[in-house]
Amino acid sequence: MQMIEKTKKIYVETYGCQMNVADTEVVLSVMDGIGYKLTQQADQADVIFVNTCSVRDNAEARVKQRVSELKNHKRNNPEVLIGILGCMAERLRTELIDKNNVVDLVVGPDEYRKLPKLIEDAQAGLRGIAVKLSRVENYDDITPLRTEGISAWLSVMRGCDKFCTFCVVPFTRGRERSRSLNSVVEEVCKLSAQGFKEVTLLGQNVNSYHDGRNDFSDLLKSVAEVDSTIRVRYMTSHPQDMDDKLIETIASHKNICKYVHLPVQSGSNRILKLMNRTYTIEHYLGLMSKIKRAMPEASFSTDFIAGFPTETKEDHQMTLDIMKEVRYDGAFMFKYSPRENTKAWDMGDDVPEELKVERLSEIIEIQSIISQEINQSMIGKEVEVLIERDSSRSADDLLGRTDTNKKTLFAREDATVGQYRKVKIERTNAQTLFGKLISNVN
Ligand code: SAH
Ligand code: SF4
Ligand code: F3S
Repeated sequence: MQMIEKTKKIYVETYGCQMNVADTEVVLSVMDGIGYKLTQQADQADVIFVNTCSVRDNAEARVKQRVSELKNHKRNNPEVLIGILGCMAERLRTELIDKNNVVDLVVGPDEYRKLPKLIEDAQAGLRGIAVKLSRVENYDDITPLRTEGISAWLSVMRGCDKFCTFCVVPFTRGRERSRSLNSVVEEVCKLSAQGFKEVTLLGQNVNSYHDGRNDFSDLLKSVAEVDSTIRVRYMTSHPQDMDDKLIETIASHKNICKYVHLPVQSGSNRILKLMNRTYTIEHYLGLMSKIKRAMPEASFSTDFIAGFPTETKEDHQMTLDIMKEVRYDGAFMFKYSPRENTKAWDMGDDVPEELKVERLSEIIEIQSIISQEINQSMIGKEVEVLIERDSSRSADDLLGRTDTNKKTLFAREDATVGQYRKVKIERTNAQTLFGKLISNVN
């Protein structure tokens, strides 16, 4: 009698930034190579991976909570293998295995090629740990296993050499390294043939991309020229590497999205210096006006940290002033979280928690008002959206995104996912535009 081999199943939870989302697709591809198929149900999985983030303490706390929940699951299913991947694996290493006897594997971001061997060892009862960082690994020969068909993430460089004093990323992701322009372009050609409509080039510091011959503008230009019906986005750029050539490249290609995410962190030069951000507010504002001049239609977003060590009322006020001056369309806003082994850790954490909370809420409130005002000014306008998916709230609605990265919700009518369609905006809030399809495109 023939034995029917049971399909092996893998379940993955991904935390943190888009680099982790892209890495999970690499991991799924490696695991597919040894016969593991993705399941959305943890209780059916033979292997459970948690791809983790260390950027702030609350990111780590969530994962620790999740791992303790998995303890029960493992008790009832002793055969299941549990792996911690990503930045927390890199930062905490053996601590993750020692502290609880639920974790079988700990694998850092540069070690995913070793997964087949580590799984084999774990099945034999050996706990595996692989956390070496590499100067060259960029997985450029592994085709990520993508699970959705419109937008693709594409890691083009890994690591970070900036060493902002608050940040763990240079420690969890290691040194900067870039894929070759040709390998990225080849991948985009394949995505185009598969019908993808949007690619987002990813790197912790994406505009410091350099493959030895080509810089980030060269890469963006080559990618944009593969297929004019594919939208090109990129994340995250650092103000230091935002030069004129790059601004000109973005401005001169219709399919490079006019959405600029440029983290400022603080409005105070004194704090920026302590953060080792390498620019002054004057330089940053100069950059912003250059970009606005080159692309008047562009939208902007940023990151802010409230309560960095030694931040005074005046420093905080300067951050609020910058918000009012630039008028960002959106922002990611965080409370400073001290991270062990970073330089800022040694500066102490002297802004009291209540003050951090107060400053952060002030930032959030101002941003929400500005976002609402900007969005309101779009009422009555026609925008082109790429339709990304069904709305999660109503089966009758679709969700698209403008080139300027604004979520747009509208009634489905004859439209389908993957199309570019025009929508007339009827109402808005701080996060979303609501409108109606304009029939008869062209
Ligand atoms: N490489 C990107 C993003 C890195 S992490 C960049 O340089 O912009 C994303 C954001 O998290 C950062 O921009 C910063 O605002 C925030 N962040 C990083 N470390 C933090 C910390 N220790 N406490 C609070 N926020 C932090
Ligand atoms: Fe962290 Fe700074 Fe590098 Fe961004 S640029 S990943 S904030 S060290
Ligand atoms: Fe977090 Fe690592 Fe990304 S620390 S933000 S998952 S690079």
